[in-house]
Amino acid sequence: MRALHLAIFSALLLTVSCLKKDGPATAVTGAGATVTGDEIVIGEVGSMTGGAATFGKSTHDGIMLAVEKINAAGGIKGKKVRIITLDDQGKPEEAAIATTKLITQDKVIAILGEVASSNSLAMAPIAQKNGIPMVTPSSTNPKVTEIGDYVFRVCFIDPFQGSVMAKFAYNSLKLKNVAILRDVKNDYSIGLADFFIETFTKLGGKIVVDQSFSQGDVDFKSQLTSIKGKNPEAIFVPGYYTEVGLIARQARELGINVPLMGGDGWDSEKLTEIGGEALTGSYFSNHYSPDDMSEGVQKFINDFKAAHSRIPDGLAAMGYDAMLILADAMTRAPELTTVAIRQALADTKAYPAVTGMITINEKRDAEKSAVIIEIKDGKFIFKEKIDP
Ligand code: PHE
Repeated sequence: MRALHLAIFSALLLTVSCLKKDGPATAVTGAGATVTGDEIVIGEVGSMTGGAATFGKSTHDGIMLAVEKINAAGGIKGKKVRIITLDDQGKPEEAAIATTKLITQDKVIAILGEVASSNSLAMAPIAQKNGIPMVTPSSTNPKVTEIGDYVFRVCFIDPFQGSVMAKFAYNSLKLKNVAILRDVKNDYSIGLADFFIETFTKLGGKIVVDQSFSQGDVDFKSQLTSIKGKNPEAIFVPGYYTEVGLIARQARELGINVPLMGGDGWDSEKLTEIGGEALTGSYFSNHYSPDDMSEGVQKFINDFKAAHSRIPDGLAAMGYDAMLILADAMTRAPELTTVAIRQALADTKAYPAVTGMITINEKRDAEKSAVIIEIKDGKFIFKEKIDP
C-alpha cells in the first residue's frame, strides 16, 4: 500500500514538473494524418460573413494567391495543394465545428486559421488532440499557441503589440492619462488592454478609466460619457473594426476630440467606411504596411492587385505568409505526415516573408516587427516600424 502511494505520488510529481516545463499542452490522442493521394488537402477556417468578415475574406485571398504560386511552380513534392475553406461566421462555436469537420470528414493534413484569437482558441484544442498542425496567420493572444505543440502562429504576440502602443503613447505622443475601452467578449481585446496598461503604467502613465463593451454592440454612449468625465488625453480601444468605427463616430458626437488608439484589429478598409472623418488623428499598430518599399513587399502588392484590383491589407499579407510557411515546412519535411510537418514547422528559421523575417521560436510564435499607422482623411499612413 505504501509503495503504491509512493508510486502515485511520484507519478503526480512527474506530471506537475512536466506541466511546468512544457506548459499545459493538450495530449495528442488522435492518429494524425498522412498524404496518400496526388494532392495535398489543407483546411481553412475563417470569418467569411459577420462583423469581422473582411478578416476572413482578405486572409482567404492571401492564402489563395500563395496557393496559385505554389501550384504554378509544380506544387509540393510533385503534389498540388487544394484548400477547403469553411466559414465560421466569426463565432468560436462555429470555428470548433468547422475544425472537427475538416479533420474527421475532409481528412486535411493541416489547418490554416483563424484570425480572431477567440476563434483560434476554440479550434486549437481540437487540432492538438487530433495531432493536426494548425497555423494561425494572425491570432496574437499568447494563449493560442500555449494550447499545444501542434499549434503555430506566424505573427507577433500581444505583449509586444501592447508595449509598442504604450511606448508610442507615452514617449512619442507624450500622453500621461489614457482611458481604456475594451471588448469583454474578445480574448484578444481583453489581453491587449492588459498588456498596454502594464507597460503604460510602468512608464509612469495613468489609466484614468477602464470601460467595456461586447462584440456586436452598437451604442457606446454611456461608456463614452463616463470616459469623457475623466478627461483622458487618448482612448485605447483594442477592438475589431466594426465596433471601433462606431465608437469613433459616437465619441466625436459627444464632443470627445482626443485620439483613439488600437491594435491590428482595426485593419480593414471598412474601418474608415464606418468611422469616417472621426478617425483622423487616431493610431493603431499592425503587422505590415503597403508603404514598405522593400522588393518582396512591393512584388506581393503588385501580384495581389493584379488578382483583386485592391491593395492588400495586413490580413491578406499574413494569410499569404502563413500558406508559404506551411508549404516551406512541407517541402523540408522528409515525408508528408503530420508528425514530420509539425517538426518542420517548429524548425522554421529566417524565412523571408512579406510581413518580415519569420523564425518560429520555442513557444511556436514568431518574433517580428510591428508598424504604427496614423489615420488621416480615411487613409492609413505609415508612421514608424518597431523591432522586437
Ligand atoms: N490579432 C487579432 C486577434 O488575435 C486578429 C487580427 C489580426 C485582426 C490582424 C486584424 C488584423 O484577435
